Amino acid sequence: MNWTKKDLLGITELSKDEITLILDTAESFKDISKREVKKVPTLRGKTVITLFYEPSTRTRVSFEIAAKRLSADTINVSSSTSSYVKGETLKDTAKNLESMQPDVIVIRHNMPGAPHMLSKIVNSSVINAGDGAHEHPTQALLDLFTMREKKGRLDGLKFVIIGDIAHSRVARSNIFALKHFDSEIVCCGPPTMIPPFIEDLGVKVEYDINRAVKNADVIMMLRIQKERGGVSYIPSINEYSTIYGLKQDQVKKAKKDVIIMHPGPMNRGVEITGEVADGPYSVILDQVENGVAVRMAVLFLLTGGEA
Ligand code: CP
Repeated sequence: MNWTKKDLLGITELSKDEITLILDTAESFKDISKREVKKVPTLRGKTVITLFYEPSTRTRVSFEIAAKRLSADTINVSSSTSSYVKGETLKDTAKNLESMQPDVIVIRHNMPGAPHMLSKIVNSSVINAGDGAHEHPTQALLDLFTMREKKGRLDGLKFVIIGDIAHSRVARSNIFALKHFDSEIVCCGPPTMIPPFIEDLGVKVEYDINRAVKNADVIMMLRIQKERGGVSYIPSINEYSTIYGLKQDQVKKAKKDVIIMHPGPMNRGVEITGEVADGPYSVILDQVENGVAVRMAVLFLLTGGEA
């Protein structure tokens, strides 16, 4: 199949075939990062702007590396050093950036729907790099890529996601993506961090972490989203960590070949112990590595490349 969409705004807008196309395309790009000369001329002459209104390490750097490895020109704009601090609206910023003819604008914003608004007012392709607690599509795609790479499939898995589900765009995008496949999805966390009616999405809810992780193929840990008020939903960090932090005891209850994932940034000693994060089942740094290949694939497809 060929890619036909102008933007990547959310997983909800993608079909199973489109998700598979991105993952397959990413596979062909992964090798480039292992070469001595990590660069191909595929996007020569294209311009990619990353416009970040929220902090980021992995996503922003990963998009920049992905674009540079495809030979695109990259420009980073962050809210703290842009005219946002002088009162400029997102709409005006976008129109001004558009005047400089970028091909792709990658945006992270604390307001859900900001990338969707942007996509309506610019001709450039828009990629959602995280909008509030709504979606983080490229994170879910790199997570699926990592699961498929490590498990050889996306069907028949028990996928357990633990933590502040209510405020997590990563949880939402992963659930939407995995729903296309025949896997069991279990959400676990304190009742205050599980959104009401989440079962309507076809996921199971389990409040006991020891029951949740039993026979799991994949365990994904989430941090408490302090910037979205997550801490006010629990009595204390210590209590949360004791009850919902992932430790070796829980890992032993999962399948022998379980993989432990985390989108980052991690709060070691809160949602995951250092021992588990650095242990033999952890694929956390593989996720980061795969993020580059997945974002190369997304940039390539959105700018007209054929898989
Ligand atoms: N996973 C993720 O979005 O990390 P950053 O906030 O560092 O980009």
